[in-house]
Amino acid sequence: MKAALEIEDVSVYYGKRRALERVSVRVGEGEIVTLLGANGAGKSTVLRAVSGLVRPTGGRIVYAGRDITRWPADAIVAAGIGHVPEGRDIFPEFTVLDNLLVGGHTVARRELAGRLESAFELFPLLRERRRQPAGTLSGGEQQMLAMGRALVARPRLLLLDEPSLGLAPMLTREIFRVIRRINQSGVSVLLVEQNARRALGVAHRGYVLETGRLVVSGASRDLLEDQRVQTAYLGLRPPTEGAREGG
Ligand SMILES: Nc1ncnc2c1ncn2[C@@H]1O[C@H](COP(=O)(O)OP(=O)(O)O)[C@@H](O)[C@H]1O
Ligand SMILES: [Mg+2]
Repeated sequence: MKAALEIEDVSVYYGKRRALERVSVRVGEGEIVTLLGANGAGKSTVLRAVSGLVRPTGGRIVYAGRDITRWPADAIVAAGIGHVPEGRDIFPEFTVLDNLLVGGHTVARRELAGRLESAFELFPLLRERRRQPAGTLSGGEQQMLAMGRALVARPRLLLLDEPSLGLAPMLTREIFRVIRRINQSGVSVLLVEQNARRALGVAHRGYVLETGRLVVSGASRDLLEDQRVQTAYLGLRPPTEGAREGG
């Protein structure tokens, strides 16, 4: 499979503190790949490195065959990478529509209406609420807005940072359903999640990050069977312990 994204041996420091050590992640064209790990493992840093918000001290990032490691963030967006950050980063005082227009600031005027229309088709709720200040939306609706805003630029690769964080189960299901739909429309996805079970349910492959290093990777179905993943991220007990309790 052709690669949409290749992160090769990337290291990132915040000051003297190392956040990533030689991390390599590949997203094939048309794939959903998930990055799992505990709080502080470095997941968001991986996404920030891809979108040019932090600079790696080593390694490289290749997108659609081009080395984008040193590109400015706006050039990376223009090249087709959309980033929906942790915490969503919407402008609460702006209306829903104006927030979407922020995502469309690089889009040619004649294409804008069509782009907004596709965002509204994916999230009909945003159409109903388009004149409302974004700050009046619920957490789940704000997540939809953040995703809609990234999609207005029509990315080929979407970076999603904990889209289900803080959402009720019903909205979480809805968000994951939309992630699948976006992917089916041809967009490759790199998905950061703490909800490992759901993430592995939607992703083709996954990687597990622990304190800045990759520890396991593989097909989602294999990771769901992996004992380390089960114990650390799926809330299952090691089999020996379970057997002791059962007997
Ligand atoms: N702006 C920053 N300045 C200093 N340290 C940071 C900054 N952002 C993240 N870190 C640290 O880098 C590590 C990885 O953070 P992050 O990528 O946000 O992890 P995750 O998304 O997996 O929770 C953590 O130890 C975190 O405290
Ligand atoms: Mg994070």
